[in-house]
Formats: sequence, C-alpha cells, structure tokens
Amino acid sequence: MLILGIESSCDETAAAVVRDGREILSSVISSQIELHKPFGGVVPELAAREHLQKIDPIVSEALEKANVALKDIDAVAVTQGPGLIASLLVGVSYAKALAFGLDIPFIGVNHIEGHVLSVVFENPAVEYPAFALIVSGGHTNLFHIPEAGKYKVISRTRDDAAGEAFDKVAKMLGLEYPGGPLIEKLAKEGDAKRIKFPVAKISDGRPDFSFSGLKTAVSRYLRENEIAPLAKDELPTQEIKDIAASFQATVIKSLLGTTEKMAAQFHPQTLIVAGGVACNNALREAAEMLGEKLNLPVYFPSKHLSTDNAAMIAAAGYFHLQNGEQSDLRMTADVSMRLQNFENEDGELKRRKVRYRL
Ligand code: KG4
Ligand code: ZN
Repeated sequence: MLILGIESSCDETAAAVVRDGREILSSVISSQIELHKPFGGVVPELAAREHLQKIDPIVSEALEKANVALKDIDAVAVTQGPGLIASLLVGVSYAKALAFGLDIPFIGVNHIEGHVLSVVFENPAVEYPAFALIVSGGHTNLFHIPEAGKYKVISRTRDDAAGEAFDKVAKMLGLEYPGGPLIEKLAKEGDAKRIKFPVAKISDGRPDFSFSGLKTAVSRYLRENEIAPLAKDELPTQEIKDIAASFQATVIKSLLGTTEKMAAQFHPQTLIVAGGVACNNALREAAEMLGEKLNLPVYFPSKHLSTDNAAMIAAAGYFHLQNGEQSDLRMTADVSMRLQNFENEDGELKRRKVRYRL
C-alpha cells in the first residue's frame, strides 16, 4: 500500500511517499525557517501563504523522488491537527481534493500521533506498554500507550512547550530562531552545573511539566548579572555558554525526572522520545542512560524524522487505514485536536479548574 503523507501544521510544508507504513520511498520537507527568522518566531499568516505556494511542487517532488505517479498512490494521509488553522487548512484542502480527484481513501491524522509513530522506520518494533515523550516547539507530552493506537496523556506542560522554552531563552541570549540547535551548540562548551535553575513543581501535585518559571529564572539571572544578549556576529562568552548548558540540563532533568517517576508506576517496555527537541544530543544521551537504568530500550527517530515531516503522517495514516478507518469530505482541520482516547480525565480536570494550553 502506497500512502502519500502531507504535513502543513506549522512552518514546514512536507510530503512523503511511504510503502506499507514502514518504508520511506521519499520524504521532502520545505522549511520556512528563513522566512520567519526576522520575526523571531512563526508568523501564522506568512506560514499559510508559503504552504499554499509550496504544497503542489513539494508533492510533485515527493512523487518524483519515490519514482511513482499519482495513479500509483493508494491513499492520502494528512495532518488534521493540532496546529495553526490557516496552515492546517492548506494541507487538509489539498489532500481532500487530491483524494476526491483520484477516488482513493484519505485520512486525517493527529500530528502528535505522527511524532509517536516517527520511530517506526528506523527502530525495532515497539513493545507495549510503551511511553512516548513528545517534545517539540508546540508540545510537551508524556503518553502512556498500553497498546498500539491507545493513548493516555500522563504528563503535559502547563505553560510553555520545551522547544518554546529553548526558543525564548535563545532569544534572550541574542540567538536566532529556532534557538534549540544554537543553545545545544553553546551548551557543549558550557558548564551545566554552574547555575542552579529550578525544576518546576506543580502545586496541585499532578506530574506535569512547566517551563515558564525556568524562562523567568534565566531572564532574572541575566538581569541581575547584567548580561547583555549577544550582538550579531559577537562571539559567545563562557558565561553565556554556562547559562545555555545549565538551562538545557534543567529542561532535560525535568523531562526525564518525570518520565522516570511515571515509569515506576506504569512499567513501560519501550521509551519513545520524538519531536523537534529530540534532535538534542544531550537529551538523547540522558534518555539512553535512563533507558539503561530502567532496563528498557529507547527509540528515537533520526534527526530528519524528529522535526515535522510527512513520513510520520503517512505512518500514522497507514495504522488507521489498516484499522478500517478513513475520513470523509466533511473532515476539517482541528486546531486543538487531542491525542487521548482512554481514561480521559477532561471532566475531572475541568471540575478542578486545571488548565492546559493543549
Ligand atoms: O517538531 P518541530 O519541528 O515543530 C513543532 O511541532 O513544534 O520542533 C521544533 C522545535 C523548536 O522549538 C526548536 O528550537 C526545537 O524543536 N529544536 C531543538 C533542537 N532542534 C530543534 N531543541 C533543542 N535542541 C535541539 N538540537
Ligand atoms: Zn511537530
């Protein structure tokens, strides 16, 4: 079965051709980083317009690279949500039109489930129950997955996503967008023990993440120590490198500390770590060490598949199509689409007035 995957939820326009949910014939990603760089973050209007221009050529390129024609495609999988509404709509409308024109099935996929399934291509089969730590610019979730396709969110961020914290702290240090890779580079030469930044504890005792306090702590440290952001082309000082390393170590400690605590309760057989922040080598190494300690394998996607891509969307689409599911033409983009389909605590959270961004 050949699936054409399409992803346009944020600032990457991507298309991929995947055979039987596991073999990538092509994966093309057009990043908008340069477009948004001057603004220090993604500008939704610009993103949507760029998707509109890129989607058709990117799909053509994916087909060409896979050496297949449109008529060979058996189904289309597209990111339905969560994401930016105007960006999502470009992919969803395109996928629907294509599937209708070709008279083949199509399926709307949850972007986060795509990140979870991004590990299927280059790792042994996932053993269940599994944990998936999905860390990106928009999401920070720890999922308990008792069997394929079943998800319970056990930890999530109450404010900023981990990648967002990387990007905001980078901005404070005078670094360009996206800040994650630049912080990682500085952190390599920094002393992670130099500054003690706090790992947030949630007052209601839920095992959630919070990164806005850490961001404020970095900002306060910069102010109190009169550290100015780096000017363009200025070489970073040792102090800035130490701040980057200490900040990065705190994020990793928070992510993996919670994962370890929850693992003692849920006993996962596999740990999946995916999403843009999973490109971070320090996080990869620390997660590997946690895996050794807990005696469970840790699966990452390769870096190409860690950030947003369409191969993971095709993989998620394949799973659902194999389960006999498909979308119809009434399907539309869902900005705040959730990935939780058992032991959903939404009612309880509402009653206790616990708020999440996603
Ligand atoms: O998954 P992704 O491409 O897009 C979203 O769905 O958000 O993730 C992008 C995020 C950005 O916040 C970026 O700074 C972060 O991933 N990121 C990193 C690294 N590479 C990308 N964060 C830390 N270290 C990295 N090496
Ligand atoms: Zn993503």
